[in-house]
Amino acid sequence: MTISSSPFGSGADGQAATLWTIENADGLSVGVTDWGATLVTVRQPDRDGRLADVVLGFDDASVYRPSKGYLGATCGRYANRIAGGRFRLAGRDYELAQNDGPNHLHGGDRGFDSRLWTARPYSEGDRTGVVFSYLSPDGEENYPGNLSVQADYALDESGRFTMDFHAETDRETVVNITNHAYWNLAGRNSGSVLNQVLVLNASSYLAVDDTAIPDGPPRTVDGGPFDFRRPKAIGADIDRVRGGYDHCMIVDGPAGTLRLAAEARDPFSGRTIRLSTDRPGVQFYSGNFLDGTPYPTHAGFCLEPQDFPDAPNRPDFPSTVLSPGDSYHHRSMVEFSVSGVD
Ligand code: GLA
Repeated sequence: MTISSSPFGSGADGQAATLWTIENADGLSVGVTDWGATLVTVRQPDRDGRLADVVLGFDDASVYRPSKGYLGATCGRYANRIAGGRFRLAGRDYELAQNDGPNHLHGGDRGFDSRLWTARPYSEGDRTGVVFSYLSPDGEENYPGNLSVQADYALDESGRFTMDFHAETDRETVVNITNHAYWNLAGRNSGSVLNQVLVLNASSYLAVDDTAIPDGPPRTVDGGPFDFRRPKAIGADIDRVRGGYDHCMIVDGPAGTLRLAAEARDPFSGRTIRLSTDRPGVQFYSGNFLDGTPYPTHAGFCLEPQDFPDAPNRPDFPSTVLSPGDSYHHRSMVEFSVSGVD
């Protein structure tokens, strides 16, 4: 494994950002920056050894914030939506930014994706990575409690990219942290992903209202457009889903243990990823809002491992409350491989 660093422009606050590039012996490499603890590049070989960058990203930290697409970012304090930007916790009402129609999205006006994190590169056995740390102060974006957060991104010689998120608080708060990579296994400038093939290990999902808030209990995917239990092109049924996919898929198997959630494959190049997570859900988003600056609609798909949207207002969902003395741990892993010709 090798790791190198290079300047990466500066983030919205003018502080200099750095890009770390980690490469294994197969030529697979990942690039991560301290601006937003963002996954910037993943260069993955195809079945003939040809490399392509399979995540959407930019060449300079300054481009990230205005883009609003959360490309490759670490999202928090609460990734995804909180209805009306409101929740009640420990007898108090909290009002958060309504930065997505009437709702709160991805931590508010300035979430973890638009912060400069502290970075510590490391090597441990055949794993090399960077631990990013950020202290989110009490009251930041109106969330309660000083939250100390780490995002550990590491690659190993077997082509496994692990993402470990940790957080601790000094006051009761809510936490939901994810990575918001957009994948395009044909390469980031190759156009639409609608012919890439997906498997989701999810028998149920959360249907949503017009503002993308889950509107009831989980529903079965059985036989409908959300049924990806057998390999299916992302675009096969997309016209049956108003606006495209942007839904929380409930991963089969017990949350809290790492289990396979998704597999995606580009049939032409053979590039394949397998995502495992210990979270209860994965937000499957088909890049509906990408607007051509520069990436067009459906130029990438996201598989964001996380807790359920709006859980702070939904006692029927797994709790996302973090109390002092407890710690939040989230582990997800992407395994890179190539498959043969279909
Ligand atoms: C998440 C949301 C989408 C969209 C993107 C960013 O995936 O679920 O609705 O907001 O982030 O554009």
